[in-house]
Amino acid sequence: MHNDDSQGELQAYRPSAGLAVSIDDPVQNPGLPPHRERITDKDPAAEKRAERTIYTLFYLSVAGSIWAIAAYMLFPIEDQQLTSIRHNNMFIGLGIALALLSIGIGAIHWSKSLMSDKEHVEMRHSTRGSESTRAAVIKSFEAANEESGFGRRKMIRNSLFAAVAASILPGITLFRGLAPHSSEENPLAGHPVELLKQTMWEEGAYLTRDPDGTRIKASDVTLGSAFHVIPEKLAATSHTDGYLEEKAKAMVLMVRMPPEQITETEERKSWSYDGIVAYSKVCTHVGCPVALYEQQTHHLLCPCHQSQFDVSDGAKVVFGPASRPLPQLPIAVDDEGYLVAQSDFTEPVGPSFWEMH
Ligand code: FES
Repeated sequence: MHNDDSQGELQAYRPSAGLAVSIDDPVQNPGLPPHRERITDKDPAAEKRAERTIYTLFYLSVAGSIWAIAAYMLFPIEDQQLTSIRHNNMFIGLGIALALLSIGIGAIHWSKSLMSDKEHVEMRHSTRGSESTRAAVIKSFEAANEESGFGRRKMIRNSLFAAVAASILPGITLFRGLAPHSSEENPLAGHPVELLKQTMWEEGAYLTRDPDGTRIKASDVTLGSAFHVIPEKLAATSHTDGYLEEKAKAMVLMVRMPPEQITETEERKSWSYDGIVAYSKVCTHVGCPVALYEQQTHHLLCPCHQSQFDVSDGAKVVFGPASRPLPQLPIAVDDEGYLVAQSDFTEPVGPSFWEMH
């Protein structure tokens, strides 16, 4: 039997509150706390002060962005001087931090001190509003524009636009470092493929241990061993003088295996010495150092994306995303039995992006 009295009049007992609450209205609307006016609402001088602080912060942000760009110019990384690179990183970082922090603090200060802080309650409704609601929204945007002073407070608005626009510039400026221009000292700078083609290896360059630079005799390389190798000239280079850039191109992994297990093309038969082969350590996928040698399978593994290269067969790719074999360094021995390079690599080392040109 339907009982009308059961609808709307049912009471639920809430022990925590100790109150009987209507099921139709289980949560009492606590209402809004009384609105408290801020100092900037009451005092025009305080309002003016807040406005000045805000646009000063935004212009400070512009100064931070300019500072970052100036630091990029003043401390060029192309010099390859460690101090210059350190200053470049530090001052660009400080400039960008100042630029972004000032925008953030300025925006928070603006919203806290000058924009309207009246609280509103909005009831839920269907996603698309009626025409009248939409018109009301436009009206409320206009009111918000008026209350926030976005259109009216021109100094703040313009300084914010300037700060946001300027904060993008340091990022754009840094892109220039990806493609440095050629210069007298560095004629290859604008030609990445040529840069990757030239390493410190040359005819007669001694293969030395990384990092101490001691020469290696062929008799030192026992079956199954793997050596991390750099050219002697690089080992003698000061670590502040382009060392890392050259090392990133010239590092080599050298292993020895029974000569009968090596598959070599006619052309490359003279590139190895009595089962000793040397390959670039720079992965042809995206350039990580390929340094994990698996003696049983003769596979070299790149730890970044698991490409595997078979050093018994021209360092061909046997697994993974790399698309071409590791470049081989042609080697020989000198009169005293020390291992030397026959020449530089015959192809660019590292990632194969240049093949797309
Ligand atoms: S860098 Fe070597 S597999 Fe990706």
